Amino acid sequence: MNLKDYIALVEDYPKEGIKFRDITPLLGNGEAYRAATDAFVKFAREKEAELVVGPEARGFIFGCPVAHEMGIGFAPVRKPGKLPREVVSYEYDLEYGSNTLCMHKDSIKPGQRVIIVDDLLATGGTVEATVKIIEELGGVVAGLAFLIELDDLKGREKLADYDVMTLMNY
Ligand code: PRP
Ligand code: ADE
Repeated sequence: MNLKDYIALVEDYPKEGIKFRDITPLLGNGEAYRAATDAFVKFAREKEAELVVGPEARGFIFGCPVAHEMGIGFAPVRKPGKLPREVVSYEYDLEYGSNTLCMHKDSIKPGQRVIIVDDLLATGGTVEATVKIIEELGGVVAGLAFLIELDDLKGREKLADYDVMTLMNY
């Protein structure tokens, strides 16, 4: 099965000039959604991940099934004001705008092997912020898994020191 068949291209969303890759057709197809999450589980097992971290909101959609299948925990990365206890925060630039991300201070154990799962790697700002927070909390980034990589935005250059897997490229 070709997972690209389940990604819809939306031109000029949410701003002019952006080619938005809409994952909702893939999510709506059980076989395609499972194929994607199975590939992430295989990678997470190879990396001996002990915890899955996923950035709000689309990282939850792919990260949680991986954690569930492996029987390991999931730690959310959230926008400010959403986590109720003490957080570590990091500000970063997006393909369209800027953002701050947070994790609970106690969400990662020192030395714990963490895999980051998200739907899409664009500029790499989101995942770079996520890596910084995980490392500040003492976690080890064992791997990063994305459904989609947008090659032109060169997000992978920010991740040269890490093991990155993506299921499709544009
Ligand atoms: C999107 C996407 C990634 C991020 C990729 O999330 O789900 O997390 O952008 O872009 P980057 O590599 O340039 O950082 P968005 O912030 O739009 O939030 P959402 O998942 O809540 O829609
Ligand atoms: N997040 C950042 N850039 C994106 C894009 N081009 N399509 C879908 N999600 C995105």
